[in-house]
Amino acid sequence: MLEIGGLDVAYGESQVLWDVSLHVPAGGVMCLMGRNGVGKTTLLKSIMGLLPARSGRVVFDGRDLHRLRPEERAACGIGYVPQGREIFPNLTVAENLRLGFLGRPKSAGNGRVALDDIEQVFDLFPKLKQLLSRKGGVLSGGEQQQLAIARVLLARPKLLLMDEPTEGIQPNVILQIEDAIQRIKERGIAVLLVEQYLEFAWRLAGSYAIMRKGAIVASGSTSDLRHDVVRQHLTV
Ligand SMILES: Nc1ncnc2c1ncn2[C@@H]1O[C@H](COP(=O)(O)OP(=O)(O)OP(=O)(O)O)[C@@H](O)[C@H]1O
Ligand SMILES: [Mg+2]
Repeated sequence: MLEIGGLDVAYGESQVLWDVSLHVPAGGVMCLMGRNGVGKTTLLKSIMGLLPARSGRVVFDGRDLHRLRPEERAACGIGYVPQGREIFPNLTVAENLRLGFLGRPKSAGNGRVALDDIEQVFDLFPKLKQLLSRKGGVLSGGEQQQLAIARVLLARPKLLLMDEPTEGIQPNVILQIEDAIQRIKERGIAVLLVEQYLEFAWRLAGSYAIMRKGAIVASGSTSDLRHDVVRQHLTV
């Protein structure tokens, strides 16, 4: 579904990603792991087109994304839930959700609020229904994370890029987010999950990739992942 090959990305003179290749299968969850500052967010941003690649390719559903802008990549079916959530603090929950529809592919009825989609999202995150008129900025971290995921789902993505959804969130809400990702997976949406909370990632992901200093150093099926590999690359 998503095929990344030989990707090099730099901020100005400083190169951060080195020859990154990755394959995210349709309908599966892949977990991308690595210590702080190794380039995980940079990779998601370049998949989304928010950072230009120096070389290499990103192919989604057989289509080379090279020349496409971020909103065009979203319209192809890639949803992005950024690290730190980035919801609009001065807009209400309802207004934040409405923005999700702007990214919808035209075939899915651009701008029109489909009740089915809204109901599915409230089914995943019932709490949001009671918070519709609340400003995004006053929600708790966990509620903001749920809102950010809900908003992206309304654009009907085929692949979801999630950047550390459990960061700074209390344990009971983490369980709700885990349950939501499980159900997103059951709907056949593929997920590339950046996560440092390893147990959470293991429970959800079928495959993994580990990044170190901007390069992929290990990858495979989570059922084959060995403890010494985790220790070597991930523990401090
Ligand atoms: N806008 C920027 N300009 C210059 N360098 C940057 C910029 N953003 C990130 N970097 C550098 O690129 C490297 C990778 O950063 P990135 O945010 O991708 O790491 P990360 O793996 O997501 O880390 P974390 O786990 O802390 O979120 C780091 O060395 C960081 O300092
Ligand atoms: Mg990051």
